[in-house]
Amino acid sequence: MKNVTVVGAQWGDEGKGKVVDLYSLQAKYIVRYQGGNNAGHTLVVNGKKTVLHLIPSGILHPGKVCLIANGVVFDPNVFFEEVEELSAAGVFTGAPYESLRVSERAHVILPYHRLLDRLREERAGDAKIGTTVRGIGPAYEDKVARRGIQVVDLLHPSLLRTKIERAIEEKNILLKHLFDAPPIEFSETYEACVKLGERLKPYITDVRELLADAIRKKSPILFEGAQGTLLDVDHGTYPFVTSSNTVAGGASPGAGVGLGVIDEVIGITKAYTTRVGTGPFPTEIEVTEPEMAAQIRKIGAEYGATTGRPRRVGWLDLPALKYAVEVNGLTGIALMKSDVLQGLETVKLCTGYRLNGKTVQGLPSCVDDLKEVTPVYESLPGWSPIDTGRIKTRSDLPKELQGYIAAIEKFVGAPVVLLSTGPGREETLILRDPFTKN
Ligand code: IMP
Repeated sequence: MKNVTVVGAQWGDEGKGKVVDLYSLQAKYIVRYQGGNNAGHTLVVNGKKTVLHLIPSGILHPGKVCLIANGVVFDPNVFFEEVEELSAAGVFTGAPYESLRVSERAHVILPYHRLLDRLREERAGDAKIGTTVRGIGPAYEDKVARRGIQVVDLLHPSLLRTKIERAIEEKNILLKHLFDAPPIEFSETYEACVKLGERLKPYITDVRELLADAIRKKSPILFEGAQGTLLDVDHGTYPFVTSSNTVAGGASPGAGVGLGVIDEVIGITKAYTTRVGTGPFPTEIEVTEPEMAAQIRKIGAEYGATTGRPRRVGWLDLPALKYAVEVNGLTGIALMKSDVLQGLETVKLCTGYRLNGKTVQGLPSCVDDLKEVTPVYESLPGWSPIDTGRIKTRSDLPKELQGYIAAIEKFVGAPVVLLSTGPGREETLILRDPFTKN
């Protein structure tokens, strides 16, 4: 059995929840290694809709161990809300901490991070990023500036006191002079943190050590990326990105495993593209084809799981997908929501961009250039609705969909290993299983 990483190959919301849910059946450990509760997976648990933002969706399968690793920014309040919701749905067979552990070294999102996220966005006006306002960016800022609070600090009240005192002193200067906002109360923040630490204690562990042991025992591991490649802080459409490395390479520092540990990297993409928040989106069709955008949004239920915002919609962008194949080293692609486009007479694939009358190679690095590019499209015939129950192999698919898949593979240089034809688990065609040798 192999170890597999799944990542979003676009701007997030590609349907990672469904793929993680399916792949979790084969893994023993499911690991979140970056991001925080800015992610959102909608799942149906015992007939009840549950949205998980922080806890890996593998938690729904009995006998699995879900890990929140070092690279995650961790909001303890959100964690306990999710634990309570899952407990009420009867998901845990034993004590929740038997199947769910949090790294000592993960950084904690505190109320002042959420506050600063909101104030920064408000102050930025039209230049705002469109963040999820969950405090993700400010928590990562503190981590990199070496003034963050780690989960392990919650168990050491005197160290915690010093760290929070220093942090709050600085935040209050910012609040007063930059935002003209009231100061934060030290004792309220500190006491809440001590209480959270006591409650969190049974869940806290050395995740890296646990994973090293799993690797020794050859227990299969699924590394669950959050957000998407184009939101990566180093490789995305900066500054309209999140604050972590969403690319597959982030699994190594984020979880504390060597690079050679990961055998397969599967990139998740929709058959079209969506984006939430602001920032460039070359194939967006809100203005050029508003009816098509509205139709795709409606059929695909394209509203954010975390914020409920309507997602911006566009055609599949092959240069961007090829970029994702390269920066992640994708060994396979999971093509999601092919059913949303079914019944259309023609579908479009973006095969390049033009800027100032010239053809552009690859994905421009300058955000203003990416805003200005005009996509070059190839139109392909659409496919009729698919009866998934009757589809066993690729050749059973409508030939137009086969053509669409082949055009994607040829352009980006990676095989489609999974095709999703609907939201249900059974509405999936596995073309190659990354956990086994085939
Ligand atoms: P932040 O991660 O909340 O700081 O938001 C930064 C950018 O990433 C914004 O454009 C968000 O809309 C986007 N973003 C963050 N998490 C997700 C996600 O899980 N799916 C899609 N977009 C996301």
